[in-house]
Amino acid sequence: MKKISSQISAALIILFLVGFIILLVITDQLLKKNLQDQIVEDLKIQCVLIDNLLPQDTDSIQLAVSRLSKMVDARITVIDPSGDVLGESDEHHKLADLDNHLNRDEVQEALRNIDGFGFSIRYSQTVKEDLVYTAYKSDRQRFIRLAKQQRFVDSVVWKVRWLLFASAFGAIAIVLIMVPRVSRSLTRPLTDIITAAEDIKGGNYDREILVSEDNEIGELGKILNSMSAKLKGDIIQLNQLQEIRKDFVANASHELRTPISSIRGFVETLLDGAYHDEEVSRKFLERTLSNVIRLENIVNDMLDLSKLEVRDKGLSLRYFDVGEHVRPILSDFEERANKKGLDLKFESSLPADYKLFADPYQFEKAMTNLIENAVKYTENGYVKVSVQKVNEEVAVTVEDTGHGVRQEDITRIFERFYRVDKGRSRQQGGSGLGLSIVKHVMEIHNGSVRVESEINKGSRFILTFPTM
Ligand SMILES: Nc1ncnc2c1ncn2[C@@H]1O[C@H](COP(=O)(O)OP(=O)(O)O)[C@@H](O)[C@H]1O
Ligand SMILES: [Mg+2]
Repeated sequence: MKKISSQISAALIILFLVGFIILLVITDQLLKKNLQDQIVEDLKIQCVLIDNLLPQDTDSIQLAVSRLSKMVDARITVIDPSGDVLGESDEHHKLADLDNHLNRDEVQEALRNIDGFGFSIRYSQTVKEDLVYTAYKSDRQRFIRLAKQQRFVDSVVWKVRWLLFASAFGAIAIVLIMVPRVSRSLTRPLTDIITAAEDIKGGNYDREILVSEDNEIGELGKILNSMSAKLKGDIIQLNQLQEIRKDFVANASHELRTPISSIRGFVETLLDGAYHDEEVSRKFLERTLSNVIRLENIVNDMLDLSKLEVRDKGLSLRYFDVGEHVRPILSDFEERANKKGLDLKFESSLPADYKLFADPYQFEKAMTNLIENAVKYTENGYVKVSVQKVNEEVAVTVEDTGHGVRQEDITRIFERFYRVDKGRSRQQGGSGLGLSIVKHVMEIHNGSVRVESEINKGSRFILTFPTM
């Protein structure tokens, strides 16, 4: 694995080097140009001064030129308008040997320029180095030309170059010393996160990453924390689902086994000879039938539930009148209610033409289960279904004056096969699936079911449907 610290160091050093080279080129150019300009300016002034100091008569010029040359530390050449050299300070050149100087660049330029000055930088064969030449076209019918060595420019440029080299070297040294320290302090939390993430990968979802940084690394830690929390949640949920499924299979088998073994018992007894006695036969056949009905009920409820689990499928929403769908169900229970002396009532505070938007088949299924329970678990008083609009919702309430449900059982009665009093429920032909069906129906309608109950006073099951 590459280390971030060495990557940062390399990047910084490259950055420094590139910056340094750019700086070097720019300062080199600027400095050289400035210094040369400075020399040219000085030479221009010296040209004028020398012109003023030089005698007018040609014969004494050579002597004056040699003398002045030493004072200004520059080579002086005096040229007449035709290009002949009148005076030359450099001893290497004999006056007589000198060619016509009119074609020299600086002289040509001096001729052209209005201010009378011209300059040029070129290599001198005599002194074997670059010289700065400045020519001045004087009013006194002559050119004054000064030549100065450029050596001093180069020395200044080199001094500056060395200074830049030294600072670049120092900067790189600082980078090499500081970057590993800084990046180590930056990457330490990252290393912590890596070990924590390894832990989480290994299945330790409780491992929490300590977030102390208020930067991207801290953000990463927080994200990893919430990720592992979510993963943990998902796994718990998955396990719960698996648990529920296992329970369901076990419970269902158990529920089915009881009526089946009863039936087997009755049939065996009949075959063993009991069928000879008509009265006994009848009793056993009636018990067999009631167990078959129970089996049928359980299987039907299980089928309903599994269909409901394939959410939304088969849900056909329509607008319908609640009363029209509740009254027939109440009538179905009329006989059972009359036997106990229970009153069955229906009340609606909805506007006369109000329609509920729901799946009528599923709605009836939920209502049947609730009304059946209310009749089953109530010995005297009444069972009342009432409908009203609460805010943006329609509430359908099934109220009874029966046994009631204890607070601790209220959360559990919606579980599959859960019954408060197993014996009584079975005796009444209940599968223990009715309320789970109701809950499912409400879930696929994006509604809810709620219970208010007081023991020995009665219960109220309230279905809430959202309206659109
Ligand atoms: N109206 C009610 N009054 C009292 N207890 C009730 C009422 N409705 C349901 N319960 C309790 O909730 C349990 C679960 O109801 P349900 O799922 O319909 O199963 P089942 O009716 O087949 O027993 C019932 O066994 C009963 O103990
Ligand atoms: Mg029931």
